[in-house]
Amino acid sequence: MIGIFDSGYGGLTILGQIRKVLPEYDYLYLGDNARAPYGTRSFDCIYHYTLDAVRYMFSQGCTLIILACNTASAKALRTIQQHDLPLINAQMRKWENEKIVNVLGVIRPTVEVVPSITRTGHVGILATPATVSSESYVLELDKIASTIYGRSLIVTQQPCPMWVPLIEAGEHNSDGAKYFIRKYLQELLARDPMIDTLLLGCTHYPLIQPAIDAELASLGHPCKTIAQGEIVARSLADYLQRHPEYETQLQKSGSCRYLTTDDAERFSSAATLFLGNTVQAERIELTVNQ
Ligand code: DGL
Repeated sequence: MIGIFDSGYGGLTILGQIRKVLPEYDYLYLGDNARAPYGTRSFDCIYHYTLDAVRYMFSQGCTLIILACNTASAKALRTIQQHDLPLINAQMRKWENEKIVNVLGVIRPTVEVVPSITRTGHVGILATPATVSSESYVLELDKIASTIYGRSLIVTQQPCPMWVPLIEAGEHNSDGAKYFIRKYLQELLARDPMIDTLLLGCTHYPLIQPAIDAELASLGHPCKTIAQGEIVARSLADYLQRHPEYETQLQKSGSCRYLTTDDAERFSSAATLFLGNTVQAERIELTVNQ
């Protein structure tokens, strides 16, 4: 099974695209809605919450987990890969014959395509405060742009602390949301008016992409806005081809189970809206010792 994790609804934007490209696999989606948003929390908190979720998803039979959350990818992925995965894999080997598992993020696949899209070389990153403070996008883009594309980019980040709470509350089409969309875009473009490419560096933001595009047009600054779903989906397809050690362990009945740490009915109706098909969710508890 492939696990898709997010603090809440945002990862559904990634899951939808992944299932379009790879419909044959079985999926487990987990939204930690009870503890969302993650993006205004400390490193320690994001790391421990993400680790709880990852452990739970492995206990449910996942082989590969995608952190479909930039905040968790920026703050928790490296520590989980370096510190926790070796221990989890050692345990797996004891319990289940030769099973190996892995956790992947969404930042690396995204930065691999951004340098090929911008013409001016000026890129804006819209993300949660935690992702911005990690500097992950700035550092990774700098590395990839110079080593793979032989160019340097001017990268300007904009924290958008109100967007995820508005989306999680179902208020993303309200006047309040419009106000905060304009505010953050104006702040960013005032700092770098040469930006021609805007990365939606939070998986919740595709839900307000049409409103962002409309606001950019009304500010007289049309930009290319990039959502990550398709990019991550293509990158996962490529990864599975290159890694049969995981691919051969995956079940292929095309199923998808939805889990949330908050109210199941509320999750089902929001997810149904975001994915365009009916979804039944189950409520689970994430406890520290799975
Ligand atoms: N969707 C998430 C991200 O990509 C999380 C946002 C949050 O929980 O603050 O960063």
